[in-house]
Amino acid sequence: MSPAEAKKQIENLSAELRQHSYNYYVLAMPAISDFEFDKKLEALGALEKQFPEFADPDSPTQKVGGFITKEFKTVKHRWPMLSLGNTYNEQELFDFDQRIRKAIGVNFEYVCELKFDGLSMSLTYEHGKLVRAVTRGDGTQGDEVTTNVRTIQTIPKRLRPGNYPDDFEIRGEVFMHLKAFERLNEERIENGEPPYANPRNFASGTVKLQDSGEVAKRPLDCFLYFLYTDKPYFKTHWESLQAVKSWGFQVNEHSRLCNNIDGVFAFIAEWDKKRFGLSYDIDGIVIKVNSYDQQQELGFTAKSPRWAISYKFKAEQVQTDLISVSYQVGRTGAVTPVANLKPVLLAGTTVKRATLHNANEILRLDLHQGDWVYVEKGGEIIPKIISVNLEKRDPSAPAIQYVTHCPACGTLLERQEGEAAFYCPNDESCPPQIVGKMQHFIGRKAMNIDGLGDETIETLYQKGFIRHISDIYELHTHAEELKQMGRFGEKSISNMLEGIEKSKQMPFEKVLFGLGIRYIGETVAKKLAHHFKTIDNLMAATLEELVVAEEIGERIAHSLVEYFGNEKHRHEIEQLKAQGLQFVSDEKEVVLQSEKLSGKTFIISGTFERSRDELKDIIEQNGGKILSSISAKLNYLVAGDNMGPAKLEKAQKLNIPIISDGELMGMIG
Ligand code: IVH
Repeated sequence: MSPAEAKKQIENLSAELRQHSYNYYVLAMPAISDFEFDKKLEALGALEKQFPEFADPDSPTQKVGGFITKEFKTVKHRWPMLSLGNTYNEQELFDFDQRIRKAIGVNFEYVCELKFDGLSMSLTYEHGKLVRAVTRGDGTQGDEVTTNVRTIQTIPKRLRPGNYPDDFEIRGEVFMHLKAFERLNEERIENGEPPYANPRNFASGTVKLQDSGEVAKRPLDCFLYFLYTDKPYFKTHWESLQAVKSWGFQVNEHSRLCNNIDGVFAFIAEWDKKRFGLSYDIDGIVIKVNSYDQQQELGFTAKSPRWAISYKFKAEQVQTDLISVSYQVGRTGAVTPVANLKPVLLAGTTVKRATLHNANEILRLDLHQGDWVYVEKGGEIIPKIISVNLEKRDPSAPAIQYVTHCPACGTLLERQEGEAAFYCPNDESCPPQIVGKMQHFIGRKAMNIDGLGDETIETLYQKGFIRHISDIYELHTHAEELKQMGRFGEKSISNMLEGIEKSKQMPFEKVLFGLGIRYIGETVAKKLAHHFKTIDNLMAATLEELVVAEEIGERIAHSLVEYFGNEKHRHEIEQLKAQGLQFVSDEKEVVLQSEKLSGKTFIISGTFERSRDELKDIIEQNGGKILSSISAKLNYLVAGDNMGPAKLEKAQKLNIPIISDGELMGMIG
């Protein structure tokens, strides 16, 4: 290889690895497997060794293990956060037991615990108060995410009265319950955002968010499983678990003390079956020697303790034929590839389809037509293709090429920078987008129209009655034709028309959400309606004016400007207005109560006893103004609990007075 070629390849590989690191750690949506990542990293390392003149000090090879995001403070762990050795079958576990017996004899007990599939967290308590929460990072140092972790309800900020050490660390696993994961992921899809692949990625993405207010809205949970103290405080791990429970920590109820390895096997057999009934994912069992003295005697290897091991459950896996790849087009135009499989029985259900997430996933798998694929169902609800059986590949089978044009309307697909999904830009006449938009509009969370369901929308579209949302409000003029169609009974037609008429009373925020503007979810629609009061104000707002509203970031603001900049959307809104829908918030206008805050600017950040909206109203009713971002123009930062560290730092740098909500009240007397 010539030096010029090596230089180019080093640059390309570095850029690629950086993107994958970002996908993994920041977006929590890896596009390639850890194994492939390591292979690429190795290849880069080899090239840099051969051509040291092109090695960059910032190269991805220079980062050992984990990746620390810039925004969080890096903290060194007092006790390194080790990993556990893995076992996958009875024999390996049996060998582990033998090693222990050899070292410490036969007189010992095991504690069996569930192995939670989340992200590990180290919590420090001083004098009974939570002072620090740090992620595992690379095991030696991690990110300080205290503000975010403080929003987790089950983590005590203050301990219950008890005999706890003045200073200790406790480790545990932060995770998201399956129900919450499904609900929040559905919301993401509704808002036109890419869904997370599993609860673990969602939880780790959440812990790394910059806005702790957003973290607080996503229910995370935590089980604690190991205590670290300076001086010995207890004799056994089991004893420490009971104690930390009494101090207020959540300890998993299913942990069990076992006298010997047979007890461990029984525990494993029991949970291999029962794990599917839990409300959270586990991926195995952790087995720990109970006595601290014996743990010390056994010691550690470089990476993991010798006194503990994990037993990993086998994810149920089968092989089957890939029949084809089809593509679904969502309401926002996002195209999702789906693998159609030869039906196969897996974990009690027949699987015919598997999700492929996006184009990167097809590349990662290097799928070819007619491939034999391994399909797995882990904790996730939808089965996944794990890999391809290359031995069974027909060498002449062509690779699956991602569609270039919309499968529904034929328009050339587009991909925005930094996004994994391809979109069909034809929102005017691409059938699944039109139908999806109308279905979203009538949905429970939007206009909630009685007597009109998804299937009816589909039929009415196919029969040519509706193409735009506003056509729904003209359906009464087609009552006779609908009757003659013979598809709907008279009663159901009148129920539908009645439901449509009634929906005209739905508040502005529901109408706004129902329009299906990308990134405008339920909450954002509410905030917008509250802030701008009318659609006319909202449509006239500039980017700068939009980001002033609570929770409206640049991404949302851009989406709004783009949406309202489209003449056809404006026309549709005019139609809906004329049809009598609500485009004005029914909240009262701001009535000035005093001018005590006139000329003063504020930012409200964090959580308070009152809602932030209430505080905003109080400021505005007294003549104050709310700003969007911290700058030298800001007079006061009203700070509550769990305020983001970045904001605090910026305000301190600019010497902006930071006041409590109590002090704000004092200012207006
Ligand atoms: S104990 C030195 N107990 O598994 C022992 N870990 O593969 C430290 N994990 O990083 C770990 N459930 O994130 C322990 N009941 C449990 C666990 C558990 C899940 C995770 C943890 C750790 C990883 C090790």
